[in-house]
Amino acid sequence: MHTEPLDFSGKVVLITGGATGIGRAAAVAFADRGARLIIGDVNEAQGRLTVGLAQSRGAEALFVPTDVSKEGDVVALVEAAVGTYGQLDCAFNNAGVATEPTPLHEMDERLFDQVVAVDLKGVFLCLKHELAHMTRNGGGAIVNTASVAGLVPEPGMSNYVAAKHGVLGLTKAAGLDYAAWGIRVNAVAPGWVETPMTSAVENVPGLRQFLCAGSPMHRPARPEEIAGTVLYLCSDYASYITGQTFIVDGGQSVRGLFPGSPPRSTATSAGPGQGAAR
Ligand SMILES: NC(=O)c1ccc[n+]([C@@H]2O[C@H](COP(=O)([O-])OP(=O)(O)OC[C@H]3O[C@@H](n4cnc5c(N)ncnc54)[C@H](O)[C@@H]3O)[C@@H](O)[C@H]2O)c1
Repeated sequence: MHTEPLDFSGKVVLITGGATGIGRAAAVAFADRGARLIIGDVNEAQGRLTVGLAQSRGAEALFVPTDVSKEGDVVALVEAAVGTYGQLDCAFNNAGVATEPTPLHEMDERLFDQVVAVDLKGVFLCLKHELAHMTRNGGGAIVNTASVAGLVPEPGMSNYVAAKHGVLGLTKAAGLDYAAWGIRVNAVAPGWVETPMTSAVENVPGLRQFLCAGSPMHRPARPEEIAGTVLYLCSDYASYITGQTFIVDGGQSVRGLFPGSPPRSTATSAGPGQGAAR
């Protein structure tokens, strides 16, 4: 029988950081494709709104207040998924925080610990308890949210850069160790996405224009554009992919050392709308 790989009917999908932004967009996309959802987040009000959105699209959905940096909370989240739905098929470990850019030599120890606790240890704790369940139940698919900051540093973000590099390492390690169990573990690495995490961009005059100018597509991603890759990686279309990181950044990380077009001796190939007609 042919089944549509992006049909998640009957599948149970756990999402952390599902209250807003990328996590909410993923929740809605999974709900539209028949998944049963469990959302874990520290933001209870917005998390329950995501659950309402999923339910309004006909999906079963549940919210569990969860701080991913606390092992007891993560245990309770996974147990709630299995207890409520009887299984756990997919997980999107997406909860994350970032702090104001701060030079490393001025970074308070607390700021470092705060980001590492959520963005790196949180992913470790989620993996640990999701994998424990999936090894007993014949497989699964997991996606962790990293960042392009997990591949190339962003200025002043040493805590976040270190944590996101760690997420790539955890993804490779878990991908390798659990491939034989039928569990695939991958990561998505977004560039600039328009979410509450990046809303402060609007407070700095000229920053949005600066960032757009540095983006080959001249715009941030919409959260839905990250969610699409998450669904793909959780689906059977990606059945031979594990331990990998998928960059979703509108081409930003392939700009090279000298962004933009170099001066040329002729007027050809200058860019969109400027090249010679062919
Ligand atoms: N927005 C971007 O430009 C961008 C770029 C690359 C990576 N990311 C990553 O994407 C992920 C989602 O971020 P977003 O952009 O959607 O921002 P967001 O702020 O909308 O979402 C982050 C979510 O994580 C939740 N959260 C924070 N601390 C938590 C904790 N301790 N336990 C559980 N939940 C917690 C928040 O309440 C929120 O719902 C993060 O991991 C972030 O680092 C974002």
